[in-house]
Amino acid sequence: MAILLPGGAGYIGSHTAIELLKSGKEIIIVDNFSNSKPEVLNKIKQITGKEFKFYELDYLDKEKLEKVFKENKIDAVLNFAGYKAVGESVQKPIEYYTNNISGCLVLLDVMRKYGCKKFIFSSSATVYGDPETIPLTEECKTGGTTNPYGTTKLFIEQILKDIYTSDNTWDICILRYFNPVGAHESGLIGEEPQGIPNNLMPYIVRVASGQLKELSVFGNDYDTHDGTGVRDYIHVVDLAKGHVLALDKLENEQKGLYIYNLGTGTGYSVLDMVKAFENATGKKVPYKIAPRRAGDIATCYAEPKKAKEELGWVAQKTLEDMCKDSWNYIEKSQA
Ligand code: UD1
Repeated sequence: MAILLPGGAGYIGSHTAIELLKSGKEIIIVDNFSNSKPEVLNKIKQITGKEFKFYELDYLDKEKLEKVFKENKIDAVLNFAGYKAVGESVQKPIEYYTNNISGCLVLLDVMRKYGCKKFIFSSSATVYGDPETIPLTEECKTGGTTNPYGTTKLFIEQILKDIYTSDNTWDICILRYFNPVGAHESGLIGEEPQGIPNNLMPYIVRVASGQLKELSVFGNDYDTHDGTGVRDYIHVVDLAKGHVLALDKLENEQKGLYIYNLGTGTGYSVLDMVKAFENATGKKVPYKIAPRRAGDIATCYAEPKKAKEELGWVAQKTLEDMCKDSWNYIEKSQA
C-alpha cells in the first residue's frame, strides 16, 4: 500500500516525503514542477537512501491521475499540490481557484472512484482571518480571508467537511500550518521562491546573501511587544513529522474528520526574527521600517495542545535551527 503525494516535489511535500520514507512508508510522488524542480526527487533519494515511484502530471488531468490509481494500490493521499503566493493570488484569482479547488476536487473524485478515502490536506492559519483571540485554537472562528489563496484553503476545508457529512467512511485530516520556515539539515532541499520573495524568512535570507539590499519591515506600530508583526514560525521538518503522525492516526484510529494546528505556540516579531537570524548565522540583515502591508494582522500564533494530545506531536526545533537551516540551504544551493 502506497501513500500518494501530489505536489511532493515542493517545499513542504519534499520534506514530508523524507519523513514518510524514514518511517518505512512506500510513497508515490506526482508533480508537474510548476513551482519545483526535478532535481528534488534525486535529493530525496540521496537523503533517505530509498527509492519511490514518480509520475510527472498535473493533478487537474483526471485521465493521467486515474492511471496512477489503476497502476498502484493507494492507501492515503497527502495533498501538497496548490499555488501558494498570496500576492499572485490577488492578480490571478481564476488560476488560483482552478488549480487549488478544481484540482483538489478532481483528486477527491478519483480517490472515491478507487475506494481510497484517507486524505490529509495542507491548510493554513490564514483560514482564521483576523483572529479575535490569541492563541488560536482549532475551535476559533474561521473566515474573513483577505486573498484568493487563503480563500481556497477555507473553501477546501468546507468541501472536506461536506464530503465527510455525506459519507462518513472517509477519514480526513486538515492540518493548519502556521509559518513554515527552515530547510532539511542536509542543506540539499529547502524553499526556493521564484522572483522576489513575499514571505519574511526567504526575504531575510536574500538580504543576508547580498541579493537584496535591505528588508522592509512592514509596520512598527502594531500592538505587539516591539510594534512589528508577530507570527508562529515552525521548522518545516517539524511540520513534516506532523504529517507522519496524522497519517498514523488515520491508519490506526476510528474514522473521522480531524483538524489540527501545526505551530509551536510561540510568537516572534519581525525584529525578533532579524536578531535571531543575525545571531544564528553571523550575517547582517539591514532593514528599514516601511508602511504596513495590506491584509496583514498584528499577531498570529497557535495553541498546539490538540496536536500534542491527539497526535503526540510537538515541534522540537528551535528558532536558531530555523535560521541556521534556512541559511545553510541557500549557501549550499549557491555553492
Ligand atoms: C503569509 C500569508 C499566509 C500564508 C503564509 C505562508 C498574507 C497576508 N498571509 O503569512 O496566508 O499562509 O504567508 O507562509 O500574506 N514581513 C515584513 N517584511 C517582508 C515580509 C514579511 O516585515 O518583506 C512581515 C509581515 O508583515 C508579517 C511577518 O513578516 O508580520 C510574516 O510575513 P510572511 O512571512 O509574509 O507571512 P504571513 O503574512 O504571516
